[in-house]
Amino acid sequence: MKHEAVAASGPRARGLDGTHISVIPRPERIEPRSGSFTIGPDFAVLVAGSDAPTRAIGEYCASRLAQARGLPVEVVTDTGARSPAGCLRLACTPSCRELGREGYRLDVAPDGVSLEACAPAGLFYGVQTVFQLLPPDIYAPLRGAVGQGVVGLGAGLEARVDTAAREASWAVPCLRIEDRPRFAYRGMHLDVGRHYFPVDFIKRYLDLLAMHKLNTFHWHLTEDQGWRLEIDAYPRLTQIGSRRRETQIRRTDRCDGRPYGGYYTKQEIREVVAYAAALHITVIPEIEMPGHSVAALAAYPELSCTGGPFSVRTRWGVAQDIYCAGNEATFAFLEQVLAEVLELFPSPYIHIGGDEAPKDRWRQCPKCQRRIAQEGLADEYELQSWFVKRIERFLLAHDRKLIGWDEILEGGLAPEATVMSWRGTIGGIAAARQGHDVIMAPYSHLYFDGYQAEPDSEPFAIGYWAPLEKVYGFEPVPAALDATQRRHVIGVQANLWTEYVATPEHVEYMLLPRLSALAELAWTPASLRRWDCFAGRLATHYRRLQALGAFYHIPTPAVEPVSIVARGDELILENPAGEGTIHFTTDGGEPNAEAPVYAKPLVIVANTTVRARTILPDGRESSEVTAMTLVQEDAPAGLAYGLRYEYYELDDLDDLHAPVGPDKLLQDLSQRSPQHAGYVNYLTVDGIPRREGPHALRFTGFIEIPRDGDYTFHLRGNDACALTIDGRVVCGADRWLHESVSGTIRLPSGLLPFEVRYLEWRGQDRLQLACEGPDVPRRRLPAGMLFTRK
Ligand code: ACM
Ligand code: ZN
Repeated sequence: MKHEAVAASGPRARGLDGTHISVIPRPERIEPRSGSFTIGPDFAVLVAGSDAPTRAIGEYCASRLAQARGLPVEVVTDTGARSPAGCLRLACTPSCRELGREGYRLDVAPDGVSLEACAPAGLFYGVQTVFQLLPPDIYAPLRGAVGQGVVGLGAGLEARVDTAAREASWAVPCLRIEDRPRFAYRGMHLDVGRHYFPVDFIKRYLDLLAMHKLNTFHWHLTEDQGWRLEIDAYPRLTQIGSRRRETQIRRTDRCDGRPYGGYYTKQEIREVVAYAAALHITVIPEIEMPGHSVAALAAYPELSCTGGPFSVRTRWGVAQDIYCAGNEATFAFLEQVLAEVLELFPSPYIHIGGDEAPKDRWRQCPKCQRRIAQEGLADEYELQSWFVKRIERFLLAHDRKLIGWDEILEGGLAPEATVMSWRGTIGGIAAARQGHDVIMAPYSHLYFDGYQAEPDSEPFAIGYWAPLEKVYGFEPVPAALDATQRRHVIGVQANLWTEYVATPEHVEYMLLPRLSALAELAWTPASLRRWDCFAGRLATHYRRLQALGAFYHIPTPAVEPVSIVARGDELILENPAGEGTIHFTTDGGEPNAEAPVYAKPLVIVANTTVRARTILPDGRESSEVTAMTLVQEDAPAGLAYGLRYEYYELDDLDDLHAPVGPDKLLQDLSQRSPQHAGYVNYLTVDGIPRREGPHALRFTGFIEIPRDGDYTFHLRGNDACALTIDGRVVCGADRWLHESVSGTIRLPSGLLPFEVRYLEWRGQDRLQLACEGPDVPRRRLPAGMLFTRK
């Protein structure tokens, strides 16, 4: 029987006791009922049947409940001898076949809970849902890793949660849920090559994935900067390849001078794979080839084109040196490595990388050139394709399937390869059109090493812009595909690269809560995905993250960044964190715990800059937001606050290959006609309707310079931008930008023509301007300095 789906956070979704149903990812169908089930003194987990996987799920569920409540929970095989009243009954039954092997049916009645699925995976996800119907303290047992000092939060937090857990009411609202995932592949990646993370933390990461009903952990194990996996036949891979002399500091030319290293023994790998299997997670190992392999080449330089020598890289970026494709020894090596990998990882898929492999060495290498000639290949791209096809033959012969990054399209796809589309969705679209399976993981939306709030107040990150709402807005199945091609999109994944993420705490910070948004893209039907509903449920979810001691990104107060108001209008700040208070200042001071608490809307009587942050009860603070409020009546005569913009779609840009220099593209804008135009309150791309593919924006207006002097401007734009004031170029754009560019210019006081040109090529989507001048410290350009003629 099918039930009408309802909004999980809507009024009908409240239990009688007022509990919100805040399940993430949102289930396919929820039918709320009246009453609730309370876990009483005689509670037990009843397991129908005697198969080991079902029993294991029963034990898992009982042990979590027991730890969270501080009372033992019995697991009883259901022989009919014991009444199910007052119990949670788990059953694998063919009657749930229509929900698939990962789907489940959950019935909560006042006298008992029944969870059914046609396979253990479905029961496991049903148990995850049961946990989310219980108080957040059901997650307290997962604080284990914190206790072992892996995450390192203070002991005070532990004591607080323990007391709360004992006092919680262990009740579940009555309802019926029928649920199943949208995608078969629901993945999360972690790069342990740039930085190594200990096994205890990897297990915690897996717990977080399981909590969100993800079923795949993509473990990026080899990199230029470190080889992290023990291989018996090639011991130097870990003896030499797992260590580097030092590490580049951020995006600077400097290194820290400290040796760095780490790897996983085979025993540890087996332990992780088994731990994951118990959580119904498949671990896909990634062994990078032919590029991103300098650590391996440092250990075995004879596998390169030049013979080396090499050292494990200490700097980020793309290395020229890759495996030699003309050398048979390369394939003997890779096949032996893969043979050992296959023994460790039962995953049907093996990821072989394939991304960012410059062809310079192959062009110069006599062996590679001989291979091209002998195999009748057109060029080095076809040589890479030949390389990948050869590896695919090896994997297929061992009953495994190959996954590669979308570069494996270049020169022709291997016959059965699955493509992981990271450079936007375009590679995924191309692969699906060729009848290949695709996993969408575009860096425009799903690279969790990107910023989740304004860079100035966040830990240093790579340039991407991926705040929660943007992640949530990604649709994995492109409209450009027809019905047959769509079926090839088997799932979605987010990636967490760790050049600038060195500690477990920082990994969690980048992962959470974006993992919740990913979970909903991967699990929930697109028709039920709504930001407001998700944001409402997230407030409860933050308490779960709090209970498990997670070092998550605390949402900043929600506020319009720049608003133009009439005198007397109100400015409203909202706290999406689920708890805590907003502290704010209007005098430029730090919004710390001593600053006033926001209690009611602020009445604006003059141009105001509000600085605000959320502070949680345990003292942890969100990063800061700034809101600028401008009173329109105070703008100079004939002018309004803001800028005019023109929007251009650059259809002639290739989405995959770097186009001509950005200077040329930005200059060309005057020869094009805009698709649309309008006004913005401030220099920002936010709120301007724009597509994912290549496009440009031109902003024009006036800047008010308070007095004569030298002014320095810092412009941050991805992928390129340029600033012109008074007809003179101040900074930008003869190169592709990831960080800011700066320029200093002498300016007279007064209103001067102002122009910014901005180019977005591959979905990074950011534009910011800061300035410093006579007696003015560096800060974001105040909105009150920009004007337009309307
Ligand atoms: C990648 O981000 N180079 C796959
Ligand atoms: Zn070569």
